[in-house]
Amino acid sequence: MSVKNAMTADFLRSAYGGESMAHMRYQIWGESSRKDGFPNIGRLFDGIAYAELVHAKNHFNVLKEQVGDNTVAAGAVFGHTGLVDNLQGAINGELHEIDQMYPVYLETARFQEEKDAERSFRYAHEAEKIHAKLFQDAQSSAKDGKDIGSEAVYVCPICGFTEIGDNVDTCPICGAKKEMFKEY
Ligand code: FE2
Ligand code: FE2
Ligand code: FE2
Repeated sequence: MSVKNAMTADFLRSAYGGESMAHMRYQIWGESSRKDGFPNIGRLFDGIAYAELVHAKNHFNVLKEQVGDNTVAAGAVFGHTGLVDNLQGAINGELHEIDQMYPVYLETARFQEEKDAERSFRYAHEAEKIHAKLFQDAQSSAKDGKDIGSEAVYVCPICGFTEIGDNVDTCPICGAKKEMFKEY
């Protein structure tokens, strides 16, 4: 895997930076959800943190032949004030990726005929749509002072698709078999 165009390479690095920070941020917020007595929302954060690792890894691997140091600028949500606010931060971050970042990165990769980058951006973009919905539902529960249900969270290790409960046989984004999914 490799890329020929500088703009797509820059977008892959920026997306790698954003996904890497989301991976950390969700683990931090997951830990605090558990401390606040919301273990199931904590598992949702952990599962989605893993999905963001999958996205970071995919972007990184598209660039694996481009050896060298790069300074990476990437937007990141900051703040750690309480569960409902943390979930709002998560929703805002996902919506930014869904509405702003990935559509632009994806169109650039298409325009520059960068197939590997296009797939990596598309997997992330599709998964983020699901993440936003899962965080919105979790926030509705948290606002009522309630945790979400106790079903397991499953994550596709190829594309970061995420579901609560065992609902699909193959990943709707990348086609991977559900036996590969990681469970939280
Ligand atoms: Fe992501
Ligand atoms: Fe996400
Ligand atoms: Fe998948």
